[in-house]
Amino acid sequence: MAEKVAIIDAGAQYGKVIDRRVRELNVESDILSADTSARSLKGYSAVIISGGPESVYSKDAPKIDSGIFSLGIPVLGICYGMQKMNYDFGGTVEKKAVREDGQHEVTVETDSPLFDSLGRDQEVLLTHGDSIGSVASGFRVIASSDGIVAGIENPGRKLYGLQFHPEVDLTDNGKQMLHNFLYNISGLSGDYTMEDREIKAIEYIRDTVGDKKVLVLVSGGVDSSVCVALLNKALELEKVHALHIDNGFMRMDESQKVKEALNNIDVNLRVVDASETFYNATTIIDGSVIGPLNEMTDPEQKRKIIGNTFMTVAEDAIRELGLDPEDVYLAQGTLRPDLIESASEVASGKADVIKTHHNDTSLVRELREKGRVIEPLKDYHKDEVRELGKSLGLPDNLVYRQPFPGPGLAVRIICAEKPYMPDDFFDVDKSLKRFRTSDISTALLPVRTVGVQGDGRSYGYLCGLSGRKDWPELFRIAKDIPKQIHSVNRVVYVFGGDVDGPVEQVTPTYLTRYAIEQLQKADRIVNDILQNEYDLVKKISQVPVILFPVSFGDDGKRSVGIRTIITNDFMTGVPAVPGKDLPEEALDKMVSKILEIDGISRVAYDLTSKPPATTEWE
Ligand code: XMP
Repeated sequence: MAEKVAIIDAGAQYGKVIDRRVRELNVESDILSADTSARSLKGYSAVIISGGPESVYSKDAPKIDSGIFSLGIPVLGICYGMQKMNYDFGGTVEKKAVREDGQHEVTVETDSPLFDSLGRDQEVLLTHGDSIGSVASGFRVIASSDGIVAGIENPGRKLYGLQFHPEVDLTDNGKQMLHNFLYNISGLSGDYTMEDREIKAIEYIRDTVGDKKVLVLVSGGVDSSVCVALLNKALELEKVHALHIDNGFMRMDESQKVKEALNNIDVNLRVVDASETFYNATTIIDGSVIGPLNEMTDPEQKRKIIGNTFMTVAEDAIRELGLDPEDVYLAQGTLRPDLIESASEVASGKADVIKTHHNDTSLVRELREKGRVIEPLKDYHKDEVRELGKSLGLPDNLVYRQPFPGPGLAVRIICAEKPYMPDDFFDVDKSLKRFRTSDISTALLPVRTVGVQGDGRSYGYLCGLSGRKDWPELFRIAKDIPKQIHSVNRVVYVFGGDVDGPVEQVTPTYLTRYAIEQLQKADRIVNDILQNEYDLVKKISQVPVILFPVSFGDDGKRSVGIRTIITNDFMTGVPAVPGKDLPEEALDKMVSKILEIDGISRVAYDLTSKPPATTEWE
């Protein structure tokens, strides 16, 4: 019997990351819904129950079958999973008054097999809304942090619980803890390897496609490139039609570069210039027409229009290729994290709906229902796709290309008609003042960006620090502000003179040609310096460059944000620290060159980790 772990998804954004970690440890896993019965888990070697946004006392709490804890199979409960375990055995769970998400130090009992070969002090990602009050009888506390129970065990029943997230990078030794659970506690041997999975992915493609044809929409990023390489390996050449749609929000000259790169690996790629169509595109949401795109400000509406337009343009292109739409499959390089973030049915019925992904619009869902979409990479996470790409013979420059969102620069232009200044604006700005030092000022900026706080998405204020470039101090303040003021989820350092907050002006901004051009120029400057001068593309995982509408008193001007993120999984990450991960002279050069672009007021450097901010600003 093959070794397999069941991951019961209680609806956390971290749920699929558990699955990734487990498979990275060469153990096969299935993600199952929260209402899975204990009976149907027979045959699994171990069970992991994920965290989730609900409290065990909430009426919406996932109904996890208590019988799971009596199967005799080892169970690891994470966050919600641990609280449920404790609650089911008679312990209590309490609401904590203060919620501080982020990296914390916990003290662990090193004689627990879960912490085998680890030291007493561990840095972990702790998210607490709820935490354990009284510990259920038969359990002992194996980890704690500032009076909070951070881990429990009942070795006789092989039950283990963690309040923190061992699956994310921010838990320094999380991988070892999962290794301990799978290998030491559950006795698994690790028989699920990358080669095995490649064979399965190829079988899946051949079985699904049969004698039909496949159209691949190639963005130029790693995912779709690996997808097309895998299709080329699985199917005869003439069955694979690769198409690249230029939506007008690509980087400067990007489409041409994509074509050259793929031609070099014998992919026959057709490029369609649809920038004009996208620019003026509209779509229908709930019966009403929205658009045109170049007049929209709402991030979700922008994404929806782009996603839907993408699909109609693709369908036209199918016809032009002379392919019968009923006789063709659409292949997409969708990864697991993309599906989690859209709270797609495929990945999880429970995660909070947080954003609509470009490659997972309602139209794609419709095609999926018809069974006409194949997603050969849907079980892979980013780093696994790179590994697969290398084994398929793709060149490094393609495999290590930084991810670029499907909607491209359209989601990196923060659009606004007027300043975002709801009733609490001045109070929030005032409460920022306590974070000031003699050298550093604070200013609330009148725009919102996306973040991830607790188990859900947030859409919160942007705060600007200015003054002395004392990076350790700036990062410390940037860490403290969102912890204490939850309505702020992102903090930047604003280059140039002091900005004494609040800032109350924006330059009305839409997806106009001029704005796109401003951003393309800034993006080119940043990327040229990163790639050609400093070779930092691998070390810094992704560097979105953002155009945001704050004018800082320069009427009609906009500003540019530089967002660096260092991460393995894109679920959590930290910004590059200037002087350590990114030479100060490189950053200074970016700033001074960006300021030469017409209509740019200031440059800001994003100081925020994920969580509480996301990689992209919207
Ligand atoms: P966040 O912003 O959620 O991003 O930290 C995680 C990763 O997802 C990418 N991303 C997108 N990709 N369409 C995409 O194809 C989108 O709408 C989108 N939004 C975010 C982001 O660039 C990062 O790599």
